[in-house]
Amino acid sequence: MSVVRPKPPEDPLHYDPAAVFAAGGISAADVAALGPRLDAARAESLADLDRWRDGGARPGEALDPAFIDLPDRLLAAYHADRAQSELFAILTTARRLREAVDRVVVLGIGGSYMGTRALFEACCHPFHNELPRGERGGRPRLSFEGFNIDNDSAQGLLDLLGGPGRGDDLLHRWAVLVVSKSGGTLETAVATRLFLRALLDAVGGDRRRLAELVVPITGKTGRLADLAKAIGCPDVFDIPDGVGGRFSVFTAVGLLPAATVGIDVVRLLEGAAAMNRRFREAPAAENPVLRFVGVSHLAEERMGASIRVLSSWSNRLEAVGLWYDQLLSESLGKAGKGATPLTTVTTRDLHSRGQQHQEGRRDKLITNLIVGEPRRDRLTLPALGSIAADEDRLDDLVGKSWPDMLAAAAAGTNEAYAQDKRPTADIILPRIDEHTVGQLLQMLLLATVVEGRLVGTNPYGQPGVEAYKQLMMRRLRP
Ligand code: PA5
Repeated sequence: MSVVRPKPPEDPLHYDPAAVFAAGGISAADVAALGPRLDAARAESLADLDRWRDGGARPGEALDPAFIDLPDRLLAAYHADRAQSELFAILTTARRLREAVDRVVVLGIGGSYMGTRALFEACCHPFHNELPRGERGGRPRLSFEGFNIDNDSAQGLLDLLGGPGRGDDLLHRWAVLVVSKSGGTLETAVATRLFLRALLDAVGGDRRRLAELVVPITGKTGRLADLAKAIGCPDVFDIPDGVGGRFSVFTAVGLLPAATVGIDVVRLLEGAAAMNRRFREAPAAENPVLRFVGVSHLAEERMGASIRVLSSWSNRLEAVGLWYDQLLSESLGKAGKGATPLTTVTTRDLHSRGQQHQEGRRDKLITNLIVGEPRRDRLTLPALGSIAADEDRLDDLVGKSWPDMLAAAAAGTNEAYAQDKRPTADIILPRIDEHTVGQLLQMLLLATVVEGRLVGTNPYGQPGVEAYKQLMMRRLRP
């Protein structure tokens, strides 16, 4: 047997806006003319990183650009001195959790859980949690809470986890990852108390075992950091300064749960680092980040496309879309400006939103997320055999594969949009794996901050979210 492992593919993703230009309204020449401004926005985004390192934030300015070179720094440290690196610490804790429990509950909200969900849904088996442990490769199930204050869903998860007397075998053991950069977000904090109490019961009141099964991921200081100390958690991970919540998917926030469920986080980071290289080095005309920003911006300005539909042609990328909805909304929805993002899954949503996208208001830019090849063997349409004759009139399609039918749906949808001059761009992923998902997430992160600099909106911070928090707390603590 060969000891040489095949090198997994590292194909680049592509951005293709040709059908936007064909729809009229903006042209390739318009995007080219925007090139100098896009270059300047890229330079400003990268200069933010230097400014942040030099402590040059202006008074009161939110500045969190340290996500930009984070994948490169994590990989460099891992290759230079593996045992001392952050990534090694993450992988070590992931292995410890994997061996200790059969379910990990992630408590977090907004940027503190949406990236993890995106990674989980994109990279794991679509029914990971339903598979028996053996078929999960011995990796735990992953559940989410603390992203709402929903009585019945919290109770539902507690039902699954079971109480004392449930048995202490591996298949009944569970652990908690609590994620909060500020350490004070109410939704996550109240869920933390609830699940700490349940976990203490589950381990028969053993405080030492409780501490081992709780892994906080938080800022250096704050209430969660204090709670972690009080509990005596042996592993606590830091969300580094300069990385804001919605930009934190490549910190322990996303990497620890991802590694725990078996996602190859090194390849994920390599994909993100590959996108960084293209972002820094490619001229505007060939740069996927700058072209995506340029086309989206001009479509908004000149065509009134204030709604950006990210249309995923795979169920597995829906949570990436929801993560991006949050990223774009919280970053650029400020001062009466900012496009409205909307995630759809096609063909599913052609049966719910398709009518409006085809014939409704002309206020949308549709960006398809297209996947080149499936990860699994191709399904093909079978003959009915002895079940019936050709009553469903599908015999002429026997042998057609699922990817063939999806490709026909994508081409047909794009053609229908083109006939009505509905602007449609494509982001083409060669396949869905850690490397392409790493590229995609980093592309969308970079695009968001570049667009902020292009239009004069600070992409960092989310001052508007404070209003509901204050008014909620005034009611809870009159
Ligand atoms: O992007 C952000 O900063 C927010 O979405 C936060 O992630 C979210 O509000 C949760 O905050 P915290 O991690 O402090 O609990």
